[in-house]
Amino acid sequence: MSGPLAAADTGTLEPPRVVVTRPELPGHGLTRLTDQADVVCWDSKSPPSREALTDLLSGAAGLLCLNTERVDAALLDAAPHLRVVSNLAVGTDNLDIPALTARGIPAGNTPGVLTETTADLAWALILACARRIVESDRYVRAGKWTGVNFDTMLGVDVHGATLGIVGKIGRAVAQRARGFQMRVVHSSRRPESDEFSSWRPLDDLLRDADIVSLHPPLTPDTRGLIGARELALMKPTAILVNTARGPIVDQSALHDALSSGRLFAAGLDVMVVEPVPSTEALFSLPNCIMLPHIGSATLATRARMVDLAVDNILAGLAGVRLPHCVNPDVYAE
Ligand code: DGY
Repeated sequence: MSGPLAAADTGTLEPPRVVVTRPELPGHGLTRLTDQADVVCWDSKSPPSREALTDLLSGAAGLLCLNTERVDAALLDAAPHLRVVSNLAVGTDNLDIPALTARGIPAGNTPGVLTETTADLAWALILACARRIVESDRYVRAGKWTGVNFDTMLGVDVHGATLGIVGKIGRAVAQRARGFQMRVVHSSRRPESDEFSSWRPLDDLLRDADIVSLHPPLTPDTRGLIGARELALMKPTAILVNTARGPIVDQSALHDALSSGRLFAAGLDVMVVEPVPSTEALFSLPNCIMLPHIGSATLATRARMVDLAVDNILAGLAGVRLPHCVNPDVYAE
């Protein structure tokens, strides 16, 4: 994309204002934006408050945000010049899509480029849970390794186990299971088996799998998908891994299952509330690993995500179709 972009509603060649909700982004993608727009970056690593974001957006033509920013009807009403929203995430649960479409504002996301990186992290959690890696590291550092015991930090085998994948995007996790000679089953909306795994209804998968890895988008259908009933179906030796969205799992039911030994371990990259409050009950459990939502956090992948997000913003400012549009209805005649 090249050439000057007109400012919102004015028809002049003043650069349009774009709000970016973090001070820095990996890679060089943002330079393409600053070349063409008046970029205003929120100056803290913590997300802007609702009030701060509303203030920033007055007069803005574009918003480049993370999934921590809720973009809903009230925010959009306070941003009458907004022409494009670009989410720096593949997930769009923070966006009110109907509200955006109703206002004629296209919204974009960053699909595809983070699937493999997130699959790598799911595997890191699977192995760390099964072999109690984080717990073992803490044990050594705490000076508790005082003798060679045959029953120290006993885990469960990953090789030869049954892996249950929930959600289509988990296919990249399934592919990696071949190296561990695993049987793989999956549950997704379409009841279709593929070369890597066979489809099962969710309840069957939960009963059958030694390791369950969650990958569905957060929607009204998947909120609370794994609650007390579903956890009770799982084997007491099983592991639950969530690299999708926190609210897919009922965290308090998970705490009960882990603390009572009804589930072996859980690895969570995502939590119901992020950042997770210091009062979180799961903190007390050694068989729960919690990460700060780093599924896509490699330099290369985050830089690719920024590139896609900037492509979306520039297209929206230029009035052409976003390359990765999540509300294509906005272009309906
Ligand atoms: C995504 O892209 O949806 C990741 O979870 C980062 O928010």
